Formats: sequence, structure tokens, C-alpha cells
Amino acid sequence: MRQVLAGVGLLLALCDAAIADQGMEDSRRRWSESPHGPMLERILPPGVEAAQLPSPDSPGARLTTRYCVQCHNLPSPAMHHAEKWPGIVDRMVLRMRGRGNMGKLMSEMMAGVKAPGEFEARALLAYLKRNAQQRLDAKAYPELGQPAGEAFRIACRQCHTLPDPKRHSASEWPAVVTRMQRNMEWMNRVVGTRPVQGEPQLRVEEINAFLARYARKAD
Ligand code: HEC
Ligand code: HEC
Repeated sequence: MRQVLAGVGLLLALCDAAIADQGMEDSRRRWSESPHGPMLERILPPGVEAAQLPSPDSPGARLTTRYCVQCHNLPSPAMHHAEKWPGIVDRMVLRMRGRGNMGKLMSEMMAGVKAPGEFEARALLAYLKRNAQQRLDAKAYPELGQPAGEAFRIACRQCHTLPDPKRHSASEWPAVVTRMQRNMEWMNRVVGTRPVQGEPQLRVEEINAFLARYARKAD
């Protein structure tokens, strides 16, 4: 009996996932085919899939994949530190309720946009805060103010708070830094800037060396 129940549970979970995927697909199609698609495409980099969200089956992750892909790519909770999320979620929820800024664009886009209720909005925010980027404690990293920490300090706080090196082990960091490099290329492509002479380039080796020194010890 238990096995049957587990089987039914699995089936329901699969259906749920299929419906969620379909919902994401529908959302993406709506905004990518809108005349404003190119502008909306630029708001957040692509690359985070629903399955890569922290605790992907939790109610908070599901709310994020239901509501937060209706106008742009899926946001990652780690994109901002906890204190930053309430203001952003407020701004987004107002938009979904048709009371945001960017009037005309948003009113066209609003056709078919679903807004979370109070309870859902609170659960969504709690999820984003719980899984937010951990801000680094600068006092714990005296090297930050010195040349050895400079490449990391300058490059890695452009889009979010300076991340804590303890978030990953030394062997995990290089892949994360490579992804950030892609996020940066995406942003440069989107904004259309060319590297200006003298502009700090991403000094990947220095950044990885700094992170490796302070990384979480591998278990
Ligand atoms: C109705 C359309 C719409 C929906 C739905 C929406 N957003 Fe946005 N979002 C926007 C627009 C437009 C911008 C760019 C302007 C701005 O930053 O306010 C944006 C920008 C962002 C940014 C980048 C700006 C920043 O401050 O980092 C994040 C992060 C974000 N949204 C998160 C979310 C989250 C989380 C949700 C779900 C709770 C969500 N969005 C749902 C329209 C939407
Ligand atoms: C162009 C903007 C941008 C820059 C610059 C940037 N990041 Fe990120 N970062 C993001 C975005 C977007 C996310 C969420 C999506 C993701 O994880 O790719 C993120 C998420 C993260 C995360 C949480 C995800 C995880 O896997 O732990 C860490 C840690 C991180 N960044 C570290 C860094 C480091 C280190 C640098 C400097 C080399 C850096 N970031 C520079 C945009 C950026």
C-alpha cells in the first residue's frame, strides 16, 4: 500500500513539475514574443533553471517559478543579499497587480499576468531571503583592502553584495567564477559597452587565488 501511495505521490509530483514547466514556457513565450521582448530579455541573465533553485520542490521555489518568470528570466535568490529583497519584491508585486511604474509597457504586458496574494507574496519573500547571497564580513578578510584582494573586491560587487568566500570550497569556486564571467559578458553584450582602456578586466586567476585561500574547507 505504501508503495502504491509513493507511486501516486511521484506521479502527482511529475504532473506538477510538467505543469510548472508548461507555465514557465507560456510565460517566457509571452514576454519573448512581445514587441518589448528584447528589453525584457535584458533584465536578468538567462542560465538559472527551475531545477537549480535551492530546495527546488519547496513552496517558495515553486512560487518563484510561477510568478517571477512572467516578464523576465528566472531570478536566483542568491543574486541579492537578504536586506535587498523586500524592496525588490514589493516593486515586482505592485507591477503584477497593475500598479507599477513603466505604465504603457507594463499595461500591455499585464494581460494574463498573475499576481500573488498576500500570503503567497510573504512566502515568496521569505524563500528569497532564506536563500539569499551571504554578505562577507570585511573585518574577517584583512587582505581585501590590499592588492591581493583588489581584483575580487572590484569585480565581484558590481551586481550583488561582495560574496562570502566561505560559500564554496576551493574546488567549487572556479566554476562559479566562470559562470560570473558569463553573467558579465551577457551584461556587457546587453549594454553594448566595449572595454574602455584602463577599465579593470576580470583577473580570473587572482580572483580564484583569493577565493581559494579563504574558501570553505572541503568536507
Ligand atoms: C509584471 C512584470 C514582472 C514580474 C511578474 C516580475 N518582474 Fe522583476 N522586473 C520587471 C521589470 C520591468 C524589471 C526592470 C526594472 C526594475 O528593476 O524595476 C525587473 C527587474 C527585476 C530584477 C533586477 C533588478 C534588481 O533590482 O536587481 C530582479 C532581481 C527582479 N526583477 C526580480 C523579480 C522577482 C523576484 C519576481 C517575482 C516575485 C519578479 N521580478 C517578477 C518586471 C517584472
Ligand atoms: C554581471 C553581474 C555579476 C557580476 C559582475 C558577478 N555576479 Fe555573481 N551573480 C550574478 C547573478 C545574476 C547571480 C545569480 C545567478 C547565478 O548564480 O548565476 C549571481 C550569483 C552569485 C553567487 C551565488 C550562486 C552560487 O553558485 O553560489 C555567488 C557566490 C557569486 N555570484 C559570486 C560572484 C563572484 C565571486 C564574482 C566576481 C568574480 C561575481 N559573482 C560577479 C551576477 C554577477
